[in-house]
Amino acid sequence: MLINKHILLGVSGGIAAYKAAELVRLLRKQGAEVRVVMTKSAMQFIAPLTFQALSGNPVHSELLDADAENAMGHISLARWADLLIIAPATANLIAKLTHGLADDLLSTLYLAATCPVYVAPAMNQAMWNKTVTQENIEKLQHHGVKIIGPEQGDQACGETGYGRMSEPVAICNYLTDAPENQSSSPVQCLQGLKVLISTGPTREPLDPVRYLTNRSSGKMGYALANAALKAGAEVTLVSGPVALTAPANCELVPVETAAQMYEAVMSRASGHTIYIGAAAVADYSPAIMQSEKIKKQEEQTTIILQKTKDILADVAKLDKRPFTVGFAAETHNLETYARDKLVRKKLDMIAANWVGREQGGFDSEQNALHVFWESGEKTLAMTDKTRLAEQLISLIAERFFIKS
Ligand code: PMT
Repeated sequence: MLINKHILLGVSGGIAAYKAAELVRLLRKQGAEVRVVMTKSAMQFIAPLTFQALSGNPVHSELLDADAENAMGHISLARWADLLIIAPATANLIAKLTHGLADDLLSTLYLAATCPVYVAPAMNQAMWNKTVTQENIEKLQHHGVKIIGPEQGDQACGETGYGRMSEPVAICNYLTDAPENQSSSPVQCLQGLKVLISTGPTREPLDPVRYLTNRSSGKMGYALANAALKAGAEVTLVSGPVALTAPANCELVPVETAAQMYEAVMSRASGHTIYIGAAAVADYSPAIMQSEKIKKQEEQTTIILQKTKDILADVAKLDKRPFTVGFAAETHNLETYARDKLVRKKLDMIAANWVGREQGGFDSEQNALHVFWESGEKTLAMTDKTRLAEQLISLIAERFFIKS
């Protein structure tokens, strides 16, 4: 995954420049932030506007542009980049990089960059096979540059041989798999995002001394809050009554009833990027709360229950809705019920867990999840809730970045 990686994509002037547009899309799908630098001749093949629209950032092409130097000049761009990929790289550009020429923005950036550099060559097969090109490639490799491709096949010029730029998906996979792009420390995959989590049980009062509740301990939600903080998010934790200490650096909103949880979540949801509903909210609460203690009378008695408002479904209906993740706690038909909740409540994801079993679910140190979204699913095996929460947060970040 390339979550939050700053990727500088250099595009030089060859027919394969159109493939670079697909590369931008794939890199962004992997969670990367992409900025594009084009040479003058690249702009003859594809309009900068295409890259601007796909990357969501202005395209850079001028070395000596007063405005650009004030904002993202060549040194700032080089410092910003976690990796530089040049695709397509023409024979001319490869020659310039090999010899340290810096007569335009892209070749200057290459000299200024201290991050890993990848080059995906694209040229006519005869140009690729020319001794001088092969010597240049060897030198670049010797300088630490990683060469991706080229591939063999039919070329735009009508010839066949090595010189076709590698497919964008192959380039993207190469970057994703490269060990130097793997994070060794906890991935700050939610850096700067605001995450709202609801957790714990609710208590629905019958009279001043009694209430209806459930077995939720809040452990799953508190573990998610810790994992989201570790991933760099700002966290708000709306918590039912539990015996846990909230992480010091999150905003804790204690609530008791389903109605209070509804108010606390709904008033905050639009101000957050992601909402995770891990709370075991009462589906029904007593229609009337008696003001005095109910006296023991008949052998049997009846309590009239009133449906509570569905917090998760209402968050997903908001005009400015966060990326909405629900939980499903089931004693049977886990997948069917979870998929039904995903669709019916219009969620982005749902994390389903078995409850009422010996291991996992309510008030257990461990849990396992089967996570569903519109186009996929993933099983997170039984492990302690801390580890499980980290895995779920990574998955949420991955799906969130793909969707946005
Ligand atoms: O707290 P722990 O002891 O660590 O246990 C964790 C857990 C089992 C409580 C947790 O993993 C979990 O499954 N939470 C959801 C429990 C639940 O109420 O599931 P549900 O299938 O009944 O509800 C589906 C979803 O709708 C949930 O996201 C729930 O928060 C939400 N909901 C339900 C009713 C309601 N009125 N409003 C809601 O938002």
